[in-house]
Amino acid sequence: MEDGMEDGTRTPWVVGVSGASGTPYAASVLRGLLAAGESVDLVVSRASRLTLLDETGLAFRDAHWRDDLAAWLARGADGKPDAFAGVDVSGVRYWAAGDLAAGPSSGSYPAKGMLIVPASTAAVAGVALGLSKDLLQRVASVTLKERRPLVVAVRETPLSGQTLKQMVALDEAGAVVLPASPAFYAGATHIQDLVDFVAGRALDAAGVPHELYRRWRGEIGGGAPGVPRAG
Ligand SMILES: Cc1cc2nc3c(=O)[nH]c(=O)nc-3n(C[C@H](O)[C@H](O)[C@H](O)COP(=O)(O)O)c2cc1C
Repeated sequence: MEDGMEDGTRTPWVVGVSGASGTPYAASVLRGLLAAGESVDLVVSRASRLTLLDETGLAFRDAHWRDDLAAWLARGADGKPDAFAGVDVSGVRYWAAGDLAAGPSSGSYPAKGMLIVPASTAAVAGVALGLSKDLLQRVASVTLKERRPLVVAVRETPLSGQTLKQMVALDEAGAVVLPASPAFYAGATHIQDLVDFVAGRALDAAGVPHELYRRWRGEIGGGAPGVPRAG
């Protein structure tokens, strides 16, 4: 049993996975939080089961969520099933997306904040309007009303004017709107590097320490492929 699970001292990050393309971003954020020793409460939208199936071939089942999560987090963005074998998921608590009585649906439930990774435009709209149509959207609304950090990693292109306005509304409500937009200055040579850059910027926005990407050091030329990453 994870520390604090029973004595009330557990204060997790809530990770909401919505049905935008980009399930590798969610896996990287989850691995990063767990590596940093953070507790995680996980909400997986109904639509995101389709993107997960499409992008990884993996099913995500409520009744077998721990096994399915372990298989997902072990998988690299390049499709290798055991690129991250052995990720300890014991610090994760899972809530079904339809469970509107789940712990994090109330502001009185302890939580550090929430990351929606990836965020669909439907999730952006729902959170901007306060729809709370499922647990993911409800927790996001709770996070905003409790003035806790909310990071929304939007994945869509191009963006409609409606979505752009909703992103401004989220920004004005206090959320960090973080386009899932990888940069090329960090020396990426593999898909995983690009994925980890976006995940790392999401963790930066949440203030969670990580070593997912190489930070800019003020020297032009360091981003060229083949430039050593260490040092
Ligand atoms: C394979 C697949 C990929 C999708 N990719 C995106 C995407 O990148 N961005 C987006 O906003 N919606 C995308 N969608 C559509 C969303 O899944 C859909 O709008 C859904 O209603 C989102 O619901 P949710 O926010 O409750 O997860 C995709 C759907 C599928 C099946």
